[in-house]
Amino acid sequence: MARTHYIAGNWKMNTSKAEAVALAKDLVAQLKGKKNKFMIGVPFVYLDAVAQVVKGSNIILAAQDCAATGNGAHTGEVSCEMLKDIGCTCVILGHSERRHEIGESDELINKKVRRALAQGMEVDLCIGELLAEREAGEAENVCAFQLSAGLAGVTAEQMKNVTIAYEPVWAIGTGKTATPADAEAIHKFIRGYIAKLYNQKVADEVIIQYGGSMKASNAKELLAQPDIDGGLIGGAALKAETFVPICEIE
Ligand code: PGA
Repeated sequence: MARTHYIAGNWKMNTSKAEAVALAKDLVAQLKGKKNKFMIGVPFVYLDAVAQVVKGSNIILAAQDCAATGNGAHTGEVSCEMLKDIGCTCVILGHSERRHEIGESDELINKKVRRALAQGMEVDLCIGELLAEREAGEAENVCAFQLSAGLAGVTAEQMKNVTIAYEPVWAIGTGKTATPADAEAIHKFIRGYIAKLYNQKVADEVIIQYGGSMKASNAKELLAQPDIDGGLIGGAALKAETFVPICEIE
């Protein structure tokens, strides 16, 4: 079945405020009228400024994390209510840098996923194995576990607001990309596993992005695979000239 390509830029902890606004302006101008679905994941402190720029455009504004609870005594946290208040409608959750640098557990990620969905936000749930796990033949098991734990309590109806980003951790920011065939194999497995967790319709409709050193030169072949529906792009998303060509692949 034909799924729209969904290209997302994960800016991570990069840019100044001026750079964030300038990049967002470039993207709004250059992606105008383009067919695919687009999102940018912006640092918390620049979301408000970037929201003014992307308002009314075809670019979805995402945060890179959210609190697992509503407003209250939670020092340092940012709630979904606050994000929605400034026009942010999507959140990237479970990124490997949060799992492995900050130590977020699948249980916490699941709380955040359920909270964001209950608040009517879109979720981009990241999953993926470490190099040692891949070498031990555990890639599928890791993805299956992260999917079932991350999506626990999420209904088939809510899955309409969920995108999965498969990001093999060994390919993130390393310049090493999974081969299109290797990536396709695991994307196919992920779709099959979602069919088991939900049903075939949910599995057919869910967008599964690839992430990990995706750039214009390798994106076309990756996106041509039947079960790779988009990309979650880090390094190449920090400049319009490297991000837009990926966005233009149909
Ligand atoms: P990368 O990052 O494109 O720089 O490898 C991808 C990601 O971590 O989302």
